[in-house]
Amino acid sequence: MKSIFLIGFMGAGKTTVGKFLAEKLRFTLIDTDSSIEIEQGKAISEIFKVDGELAFRDLEVQQLEKLKNSENSVISTGGGIILRSENCKILKETFSVYLKADFENIFKRIEEDNTRPLLLTDDPYNTAKDLFESRQDIYESFKYHISTDFKNPSEISDEIISLYKVHAQK
Ligand code: S3P
Repeated sequence: MKSIFLIGFMGAGKTTVGKFLAEKLRFTLIDTDSSIEIEQGKAISEIFKVDGELAFRDLEVQQLEKLKNSENSVISTGGGIILRSENCKILKETFSVYLKADFENIFKRIEEDNTRPLLLTDDPYNTAKDLFESRQDIYESFKYHISTDFKNPSEISDEIISLYKVHAQK
């Protein structure tokens, strides 16, 4: 069966929902950030620091290219994967679901976490808010959206499975 790609902003729940979803469907869980870290032998924060964001975005393109025809997998992507138009093209040709959440809820989840290099600024709240707003139109351009606010990962996974079944019939 076709793989399921989860997209959305940092802290939207892609990794947590991915785990539930993969378990329910007995699919393999793949996380693009983790795959990049394993292949490069260094943490995402290190890649940003040493090689720069552009190099990281190139690695995301390569990773998605490798995964685009995968099967029976749930693929949790990094929040910025949609910044490259070639990635959006691939993601729109596959089954991708945008996990949508309110910014204040998102920020509560990401504010204590210092593993996200883009948020290591003097004003993480406004940095995250600006990034969130600048990416909205791209996320919104995807066909399938699921709001994650006030839902648990199991409920969100069930909603994704319903969408997946409808999509598979088309
Ligand atoms: C990023 C999101 C991160 C990671 C990197 C850049 C982004 O992934 O890929 O820090 O640009 O939004 P998560 O969405 O899993 O936090």
